Amino acid sequence: MKPFDVYPLFDVEIVKGRGCRTYDTQGNEYLDLYGGHAVISVGHSHPLYVQRITEQLNNLGFYSNSVHNSLQVTLADKLGTASGYEDYSLFLINSGAEANENALKLASFYNGRKRIVAFGKSFHGRTSAAVRVTDNPKIIAPVNAGLDVTFLPLNDLESITKELGKEDVCAVIIEGIQGIGGIRLPDARFLQHLSKECKRTNTVLILDEIQSGYGRSGKFFAHQYANIRPDIITIAKGMGNGFPIGGVLIAPHFQAVHGQLGTTFGGNHLACAAAIAVLDIFENEHLIENAKQVGAFLLKELNSFSQIKEIRGLGLMIGIEMENPVAELRRRLLFEQKVFTGSSGTHVIRLLPPLCLTHQDALLFLERFEKALREE
Ligand SMILES: Cc1ncc(COP(=O)(O)O)c(C=O)c1O
Repeated sequence: MKPFDVYPLFDVEIVKGRGCRTYDTQGNEYLDLYGGHAVISVGHSHPLYVQRITEQLNNLGFYSNSVHNSLQVTLADKLGTASGYEDYSLFLINSGAEANENALKLASFYNGRKRIVAFGKSFHGRTSAAVRVTDNPKIIAPVNAGLDVTFLPLNDLESITKELGKEDVCAVIIEGIQGIGGIRLPDARFLQHLSKECKRTNTVLILDEIQSGYGRSGKFFAHQYANIRPDIITIAKGMGNGFPIGGVLIAPHFQAVHGQLGTTFGGNHLACAAAIAVLDIFENEHLIENAKQVGAFLLKELNSFSQIKEIRGLGLMIGIEMENPVAELRRRLLFEQKVFTGSSGTHVIRLLPPLCLTHQDALLFLERFEKALREE
């Protein structure tokens, strides 16, 4: 047997990571401005993270959700405090797609409706409902096509008033900042209008903070820049710093019903130990403040590059839109300058580094980025 060949691969294998650095099989060191796709939040192999997971594994790796697991209670408590959502409840699963899948189900159980509103260029995952609310027909299989979804343009207030006014929309799902769509920000006025219209029409507002959340934007959640409180918030990626875990934050007006949602692996002991360690490191090392400051510095400096068409982002979630396709530039950054970056479509480089990126590392990246551009 061999792996199912669905990923276009760079010819490099990473075998070790420390902080914002990764190392390949030849011992080459790379600066990680990609964070394994926005997943590495507290840095690779952080000592406290390694210690907590090791200790937990030495005690108990897994038991089922049919017995008490006080780690889930501790995690929910710490997450409530860190995010400012103390009065919400937490349902734990294993990935971002599962988080959105459960959020959409919960919304539909809540108001009994079926139609979903999502946005152009959205990405919400690859499972049944999550992929259907994703704006990419190429990854929607016939078996996923049944759900009734209306895609609206981002930041268009009028279309929100019109669609939600029909009072048949179950939920609106929107990313805190669109990631795969090319780092596109919903503006604050739009989010405030959306929140108001959802309340007025009994539509559930789901904020997908899977990529933009967990401190990446410089606040715990990107939507907190707009001072709104969604009904449901979905999280994953940075939550476990690489240990698979996702969560659904649920407002107090949703009633929990035994057996309505469930999972075998979600909220297991090892995953909770990883996620609790992440929140402790956030607090000890002020990583959200760091993401805000280092991100603002990067955004300011990148603005002076004449080859860049547009810079978008907040904190350490940055999109660099170039005049030309970026595939060759990313290849040079990786193989010549030893810098990992992400991309979005053909023309956008995405920076999603660990939130512990230092000012010095940001400068090093800028230096290497300039060198890679010089060779264009
Ligand atoms: C905004 C957003 N939602 C959902 C997902 C899906 O998460 P996962 O790959 O963990 O299922 C992603 C993944 O990139 C994402 O960026």
